[in-house]
Amino acid sequence: MSTDARLVVISNRVAVPKARGAAGAQGGLAGALHSALKSRKGLWFGWSGEESGTGRTGNIATQTNDGVTTATIDLSQSDIEEYYNGYANSTLWPLFHYRLDLAKYERETGKGYERVNERFAELVTPLLEDDDVVWVHDYHLIPLGERLKSRGCKNRIGFFLHIPWPATRLFVSLPYHERLVRTMLHYDLVGFQTQEWLDSFLHYCRTELGADVDEGTGEVTLDGRTTIARAYPIGIDWDHFSSLGQSKEAWQAEQRLNDSTRGRTAMIGVDRLDYSKGLPERLDGISRFFDQHPERTRDLVFVQIAPPSREDVDSYQQIRATLEQKAGQINGARSEVDLVPVRYVNRGYTHSELFGFFRASKIGLVTPLRDGMNLVAKEYIAAQDPEDPGVLILSRFAGAAGQMQDALLVNPHSPDDLAHAIRIALDMPLEERKERYNSLIGTVQDDNVQVWTRNFLADLDSSRD
Ligand code: F6P
Repeated sequence: MSTDARLVVISNRVAVPKARGAAGAQGGLAGALHSALKSRKGLWFGWSGEESGTGRTGNIATQTNDGVTTATIDLSQSDIEEYYNGYANSTLWPLFHYRLDLAKYERETGKGYERVNERFAELVTPLLEDDDVVWVHDYHLIPLGERLKSRGCKNRIGFFLHIPWPATRLFVSLPYHERLVRTMLHYDLVGFQTQEWLDSFLHYCRTELGADVDEGTGEVTLDGRTTIARAYPIGIDWDHFSSLGQSKEAWQAEQRLNDSTRGRTAMIGVDRLDYSKGLPERLDGISRFFDQHPERTRDLVFVQIAPPSREDVDSYQQIRATLEQKAGQINGARSEVDLVPVRYVNRGYTHSELFGFFRASKIGLVTPLRDGMNLVAKEYIAAQDPEDPGVLILSRFAGAAGQMQDALLVNPHSPDDLAHAIRIALDMPLEERKERYNSLIGTVQDDNVQVWTRNFLADLDSSRD
């Protein structure tokens, strides 16, 4: 593969960040991929997010923007129900985020998942050229590599999982788990966000499949075929994100939040409205802080930005209802005529606006119960003023915690732990804030999305040597 080879990215959704706007709403994937494709005149194939009429779908809509060609297909209502709402987001997503209690196992949705993967393979195959490097993303498309190869595709194909890989004891609760992982071993290279998720995967391959695993090189050999499995922690597009600080939009957003908080400390959370993000637990921690320090109610304003996500899935409707109730309870108990302690906002904002909000917030709360990486933690740090930086409170269960040890690490399940961290953050002297910031900004800047892409694609390049 030459480094000029065209990059073909295949993911469930196709989104151009500038067009879609809200960073928190779309997760880290879209921004990361767009940067990689831009530099290689790449092709991005996936679902348009739209529902087609009845019957089989086959029309591909192409469009070139900013050097990136997108090729999208619509899915039928049953495809969306079984593949996206069903197997991907009601089976794999909860299971991979350690929520066995929420995982549903239904034969029909499993069939829909395989059907849509087959459809992706069928429609993308004619678009591939001999030298293309193919990079498949995330849990929606685990079997796609095997489906492409069964159609004669000879290109190198890599796969990156953006979410955690669960411990073997949990993963084996998935019916037909072996079948799913065996398809994964058809990729030339499989990437994970952290060493922890990689270790879980290798443990599964060794103990459940009897694969030959070389921990040093990441080679997993089964049935005479070898796949390389390694960890590649994803980062933010530092150059782009840090440049947003110069924008008028960011400045206005910062002023807007500053003006409205009138001298109180703003503490911010930005997350898709998802049960993996630990939002009810976060509110419990804030409530505990106010219980323990009622005299400080006037010091703190908590802003939670939580754009709705996957609204047709039951567990997402429930989390929304739970949050409305909890935010209402705190505000009912603690508000004054001139003070509302929790501002709970169900909409997305542009990256520039988020930059401004992060900069105006002296505490960033990123407390998922489980998260592949979490780029909001990195964006929060990237937006801070080096002369007066805010404090990041970060869940020890976010993949980002491995690289960001100088954040205030917390157990998000413990309201006491969260309340304690909030107090420490509120009172942290400038000198300590700067020390922590100086250590964190290094990894945010250096381990950026370009490095992530380069490392993954370089290993994909050499994976068959
Ligand atoms: O990070 C996981 C992920 O599923 C990404 O693939 C996606 O960009 C993001 O979450 C948002 O999810 P959805 O496409 O279901 O709205």
